[in-house]
Amino acid sequence: MKMILGFFPVIVIISLAPFVYASDPSPLQDFCVAVGDSAAAVFVNGKICKNPNMVVAEDFFFPGLNKPGNTSNAVGSRVTAVNVNQIPGLNTLGISAVRIDYAPQGINPPHTHPRATEILVVVEGTLYVGFVTSNPANKLFAKYLYPGDVFVFPEGLIHFQYNVGKTNAYAFAGLSSQNPGVITIANSVFGSDPSINPDVLTKAFQVEKDVIDRLQAQF
Ligand SMILES: *[C@@H]1O[C@H](CO)[C@@H](O)[C@H](O)[C@H]1NC(C)=O
Repeated sequence: MKMILGFFPVIVIISLAPFVYASDPSPLQDFCVAVGDSAAAVFVNGKICKNPNMVVAEDFFFPGLNKPGNTSNAVGSRVTAVNVNQIPGLNTLGISAVRIDYAPQGINPPHTHPRATEILVVVEGTLYVGFVTSNPANKLFAKYLYPGDVFVFPEGLIHFQYNVGKTNAYAFAGLSSQNPGVITIANSVFGSDPSINPDVLTKAFQVEKDVIDRLQAQF
């Protein structure tokens, strides 16, 4: 009996194991700042849930991803996102999709998804794609992709795609978050609102201030 009692705390701990997280759950948005006043608390990590009895098929549906996106812009590409903001049924499911269209010489400029790994499938065209690692530091993994080719951009790493062909290209991608987020490097660094003090960027990029002024004016 004494021996059984001795094991009891161990048995309790083991039986609770499935309910214990090794770390905090991942954020599903950029931030979720706590409020002191519980009456003012609305936002949660993710989105609040609809009454299951009110759920309909449309909550899991998005039409029209067969249509090309408009690539008439400075970078010559268009990302059409299908995440929890387009399909409410994706809330809590950890997955989303995009269609990316590229004009000839169009780029999807260097960017990261803070909350998702991306798996890209080329449907039409030839893309030069790549990502840069953090460990080993700043190693480029790049490849030319053709229709049917699949490539992975690991979570959080800076990556890009470039249409090197003479025709339009397009691809679909799956992302491992209901709300992957996107940080486009040039836009974030040179186009933040308000602007980052140019002294910071002059030193960070090791260039003259007029280069930074030009880049900040551009973005
Ligand atoms: C594509 O976008 C450009 C620039 O915003 C616009 O002028 C053009 O009308 C758009 N084309 C279509 C088909 O929507």
